[in-house]
Order: sequence, then structure tokens, then C-alpha cells
Amino acid sequence: MKIKCLNPIARVGLDQLDAGYEIAEELDQADAVLVRSAAMHDLKLPEDLLAVARAGAGVNNIPLDACAEKGVVVFNTPGANANGVKELVLAGMLLAARDIAGGMNWVKENSGDENISKAMEKAKKNFAGTEIQGKKLGVIGLGAIGVLVANAATSLGMDVYGCDPYLNVEHALSLSRHVHLVKDPSEIYQNCNYITIHVPLTEGTRKMVNQEALAQMKGAVLLNFARDLLVDEEALEEAIVSGSVRRYVTDFPNPRTAAMEGVIAMPHLGASTEESEDNCAVMAVRELKDYLENGNIENS
Ligand code: MLT
Repeated sequence: MKIKCLNPIARVGLDQLDAGYEIAEELDQADAVLVRSAAMHDLKLPEDLLAVARAGAGVNNIPLDACAEKGVVVFNTPGANANGVKELVLAGMLLAARDIAGGMNWVKENSGDENISKAMEKAKKNFAGTEIQGKKLGVIGLGAIGVLVANAATSLGMDVYGCDPYLNVEHALSLSRHVHLVKDPSEIYQNCNYITIHVPLTEGTRKMVNQEALAQMKGAVLLNFARDLLVDEEALEEAIVSGSVRRYVTDFPNPRTAAMEGVIAMPHLGASTEESEDNCAVMAVRELKDYLENGNIENS
């Protein structure tokens, strides 16, 4: 069996490809594909391709319709990188609450100053922030990542609200009893200081955070570590200017808003931890092998 890796995949995963597997040089030689974030929409899939395994949760980089038509099974690895993303969301909230970046830059710029301790006393008032304890956090989408974020935020003393019309039993059971469930996301848009989105990008969720949603926010910090197209960027630009969104913290920089004041953007780092990369690679290769060797389909 020939496996084409469209992105670097952690060694611990590839090591599971024992005798009987080899890494394909070219896509057209492949029986199966391992992919992380590479966009596959414009690629010509081999006629006999059997499966695509995504080392990650979102599958919007994979041409699902074309795969379904050709009978190519698509796998993903839900939950395998959830802790990595959760930790970056928490960091994102803290980056919005405290001017950590401003303070660090100031130290670098003044590091040669022998009187830095004195200068610091004057400068630090420019970097004062707020605390997240006691603030209201709304989590939209209570899947593997949303639940971890909600539970962690309760233990940081935040007042947490969650909304998910499709909450499954497993995730409902792992949700802290301190999280208040609400039916209508408007309750979150109108009342929360911090709002974080954790839903997959589908035709139904594209631009779900639209002008109407953004206009309801009252100086909120909006966090998007899910997918850029969940938020209507044109409406977001207006919301930042009007102040209904005080800060936008995202893992998906967009040319329209990335440089705006109030925007903290990262280059899709959510799952970029050794642990998440290892977990995703191991799970993706395991799913692929189980299908190719035994015909079993898990997380498809
Ligand atoms: C995911 O879909 O799992 C996340 O966006 C992380 C990633 O793809 O790197």
C-alpha cells in the first residue's frame, strides 16, 4: 500500500506504517492520503484512491463531495488535538485581557538601558490590563474543544455559558455542572465579555457570526480558533470600528482585519504542539490501517 503525505506527519504516526506500507512520492501513485492542513480541493485524486485521513478535526480542506462520489473514505481525528487548541484559546483570552505582548516588546526595546528598573516603573502603567476571573465567557459549540475550554474557564473563575443545539451525550456528560446551557446564541452575544466559537465550518455555519450577531455584542472579546469563514469579516471590520467587538483574537489571520488595532492574530497554531501533532498522527494512521487492513470505519 502506498501512502502519500501531503503535509509533514509526526514520526510516531508514520512509524506505525510497518511492512506492507511505503510512502508514495507522488499523489497519483497513492492508495491513501495522509493530510494535515493542505488544501486538497484543486488536486486530481487518483482513480483508485481508497482513503484520506486528516490528522486534525476540521475537514474543510478536503473535497468531501468528490471523495464521496469516488467512494474514497475520509477520516479525521476528533479530540486528538483538543487540548492543544484549548490551551491556545486560554492564552488568547489572557493576551486580550493583559497587554503581555506590549510589555514584552517594551522590555526588548529597552533591554540595553542600565536604568531599566526605573524606566519600568513609569512604563508599566501603559500595559495595565484586566482579569478574566468573574468575567462572562460564552462558548458556542460544545464538542471536544468547546467542552475543554468551558471546563477550564470555570476553574479559572469565569462565569461560563455554553450553547450547542447538537450537544452529544458524551460531551454533555463531560461538561462541568458550573456551565450554564443556553438555547439561543443571542443570549451569549448580548451578555458575554468573552465569546469563543468552536463549531465546524459547514455550509450551515459559514458566516454564522454575521452582522446581526456582531451588532448584539457589547465590547466583547471575540475568539475564533475554529475557522476564518465562520465570521463575516466585512461585518467584523465594522464591529471592531464601532466597538461592539473590542478585540478579535484569531488563529486565522485575514487580510481585511489582521493589521487592525484590537486584532490579535496567530498563524493557525492551535494544534501546533508536539503532543497534539503526535496524537493526531497516531490516530490518523491507526484509522487508515484499520480501514485498509480490516475494513473498519471509525471517525469517517
Ligand atoms: C483542526 O482542524 O484540527 C485544527 O484546526 C488544527 C489543525 O488543523 O492544525
